[in-house]
Amino acid sequence: MNVVDIIRKKRDGEALSREETEFWVSGMVGGSVPDYQVSALLMAFFLRGMTDEETAVLTDVMAHSGTTFTADDLGGFTVDKHSTGGVGDTTTLVLIPLLASAGLTVGKLSGRALGHTGGTIDKLESIPGFRTDLSRAEFLDLVRRTGLALADHTADMVPADRILYELRDVTATVDSLPLIVASIMSKKIAGGARGIVIDVKTGAGAFLPKLEDSRRLARSLVSIGTQLGRKMSALITDMSQPLGRMVGNALEVREAVDTLSGRGPEDLATLCCALGAELVVFAGKATTPQAAAQEMDRLLRNGRALETFRDLIVHQGGNPQILEDLSLLPRARREIAVAAGASGTVARLDALAVGRAANLLGAGRYTKEDTIDPAVGVELRKKVGESVEQGAPLAVLHVNREDHVAEAERMVAGAYTIDPSGAPHEPPPLIVERVTASQVPPRDAPENG
Ligand code: URA
Ligand code: CA
Repeated sequence: MNVVDIIRKKRDGEALSREETEFWVSGMVGGSVPDYQVSALLMAFFLRGMTDEETAVLTDVMAHSGTTFTADDLGGFTVDKHSTGGVGDTTTLVLIPLLASAGLTVGKLSGRALGHTGGTIDKLESIPGFRTDLSRAEFLDLVRRTGLALADHTADMVPADRILYELRDVTATVDSLPLIVASIMSKKIAGGARGIVIDVKTGAGAFLPKLEDSRRLARSLVSIGTQLGRKMSALITDMSQPLGRMVGNALEVREAVDTLSGRGPEDLATLCCALGAELVVFAGKATTPQAAAQEMDRLLRNGRALETFRDLIVHQGGNPQILEDLSLLPRARREIAVAAGASGTVARLDALAVGRAANLLGAGRYTKEDTIDPAVGVELRKKVGESVEQGAPLAVLHVNREDHVAEAERMVAGAYTIDPSGAPHEPPPLIVERVTASQVPPRDAPENG
């Protein structure tokens, strides 16, 4: 087999076979297929599209390009959740202990922040002592013994995705639907979970802001995961405004603790229960998502989910006293209120602008090498639909360094649209659509763009 023939075949619009896919992916990871040939292939995939079968095969081959976890390794049926990335999206911190408290087994590998969206690993590391760099043996031991572990992706997993992502970034081929799906799902498949729910964000702060794009992504993720033998569903959820009221690492741990104590923001709690319900049904512990969501709500209110979070913190070396005393978490030196310029009702709150402001304060990364400041971020005192008096705080910035503060203040103020008439404004619906496997039969025609 020869890579030039594979490129030509794809260039001419034919679908690649499993053997051909295995050949170029293993050549790329092993170093025998150079970047310029992979780049040509990526552009052919982008322009010609890929059939569902072809995408599923690429996903599977990428997943097995490095170390993997199987259901046997993990001790049976485990579940996972993935989000396409949001602003102030504290869901994983709440959902993972919540699922474990419902009797599910969760071994989750998570990522760090990049761009305007946060990463679960950074958030957890704001808990003093908490270790996310677990060895494979430590991770598996925790999952099998306690039913719950949360760790950083290791460098030896899905190397094909790392190489492809870097090349896509410099060849204008990032926004190809099949390549996005293969990238996301290869990492989920390699993680070994048998039941997976995807939170596909939509709106200004989302990776794909337009609903029709979010819907195509959700349907394709569910279809490809199902073809690879996973129980799959997706919720398309609102990211036009940030989730909850906290945006920033330690701030979001505070919000997660509040939510696990039954007194968190309603949108965050509702989303966690809805996402969790899908997985509880997959695990056979409830028959309908409605019944499962009710049970999740109960576990948030009766303290069981919080106790499970305490266990997770203890098992991974963190200080569980943060649960009683949130002042043990990193705190910023200064709090600066962003005041409303006029009285009225909040009509819009732009998640992207809030995410960018939090980044300016040091809560996120612009490049992989940047370090984050766990203490800083943005606390939203007002969200869409709430009324505000002129001069009252819309938001509070948690600040350590003084550079960029004025710019962050302007950005947060500009993120708000206030309707001075005081007319009511409904917040956008939180859960826009649910996509299940029965809604997405495999297609034969190639899909691209
Ligand atoms: N997230 C991923 O992991 N990969 C993509 O290609 C896009 C979003
Ligand atoms: Ca939040």
